[in-house]
Amino acid sequence: MKKTIAIILIVQAIILGCQQLPSNQDTSSNVPDDSLEYIIPDTSLIPRDAFGDAVRYGRNLMEKTAFFIGPKGSNGQYTRNLMACSNCHQQAGTKPFSFNLMRSHQEYPQYRPREDKILTLAERVNNCITRPHNGRPLPYESKEMIAFLSYLKWINSFVIRKDRFAGEKNLQIQYPDIAANAKTGSVLYAQHCERCHQKKGEGLFNADTTAYLYPPLWGDLSYRKGSSMNRVTKMAGWLKANMPHQLASHTNPILSDVEALHIAAFINDESIHSRPGDATYDYPNPLTKPMDYDKGPYADPFSEEQHKNGPFPPIIKYWEEKGQKLVK
Ligand code: HEC
Ligand code: HEC
Repeated sequence: MKKTIAIILIVQAIILGCQQLPSNQDTSSNVPDDSLEYIIPDTSLIPRDAFGDAVRYGRNLMEKTAFFIGPKGSNGQYTRNLMACSNCHQQAGTKPFSFNLMRSHQEYPQYRPREDKILTLAERVNNCITRPHNGRPLPYESKEMIAFLSYLKWINSFVIRKDRFAGEKNLQIQYPDIAANAKTGSVLYAQHCERCHQKKGEGLFNADTTAYLYPPLWGDLSYRKGSSMNRVTKMAGWLKANMPHQLASHTNPILSDVEALHIAAFINDESIHSRPGDATYDYPNPLTKPMDYDKGPYADPFSEEQHKNGPFPPIIKYWEEKGQKLVK
């Protein structure tokens, strides 16, 4: 990162009077300081009209997913576990380096290597309903889908510079010359994670068992096989910036890169931990398959094991020498 990232909690004075930053205009005149690249949306600025109602419901859905659309959801049964979107997209998708969603509205429709086709944002939302939440897709015309999309549009209007940093989705880590090792990961898990996520990774429900205090990391109620969180390098970047909860941050991580990789290898090891869903065989085009996707065929000579847990530098070098772009 070029410079210290400026996360500025919204300054009422800048925003009051314009209700919210307009999404399709050059907002540079609202930027008093060039380091101001990102504003955490202030929910009190959600408009008091029909669109605002959808935005508010969308934000509630992000944070109280199971309450509304979980297995016993008050407004429909879509997700099959009690996790919330914001367990991974923390602070309802606005926290930097926590699979931040502030730019998503402007970035779709987008080519997705996993399906090898262009997806709309609604289709991408449904991917998270079906994979991490092991659920069934929301109908596109449902109040819930419209609310998710309205919310994503609204937070996108707080991205000041559309061409550069806006919260960043994930932390880029350095890849060591050794493979990530589940056994080492299990020791680190006991040390850093078990006190909240529990010995068997099942997490801990809240008092009325309507949601999690600490969400599960494996088992039937966790994310499915083939969720992006199930990929070792992707999870490692997220862990480094976000876990242990409330202790780690992207500027003050607790885990080193290699520790985060070991733990991610442990959590995502299929031979130790079960999770719902069949093994999927996505990414039909080997040329756009991510480096750490653990099912071949690949456009390089490395094994499934090496693609899953590394060592990654030889894979990166191979693609560099061929002059091809490797999806990380
Ligand atoms: C177990 C963790 C997890 C949960 C729970 C989860 N997601 Fe995701 N989501 C991810 C990961 C990982 C990605 C991919 C991020 C990346 O590629 O950097 C993602 C990506 C997305 C994207 C695409 C972002 C972009 O800009 O490309 C959207 C939109 C999204 N999620 C919405 C949701 C919604 C809505 C929910 C709740 C119904 C949800 N997610 C629940 C892990 C999760
Ligand atoms: C102090 C308690 C605590 C500790 C310690 C902790 N976590 Fe978490 N973890 C949480 C909470 C709370 C959330 C949900 C965050 C939210 O909703 O904002 C979470 C979310 C997660 C998630 C995303 C949701 C899911 O269940 O898939 C993962 C993955 C995760 N933690 C892994 C870890 C790992 C690995 C460690 C150890 C390095 C760790 N956590 C340490 C409390 C903790």
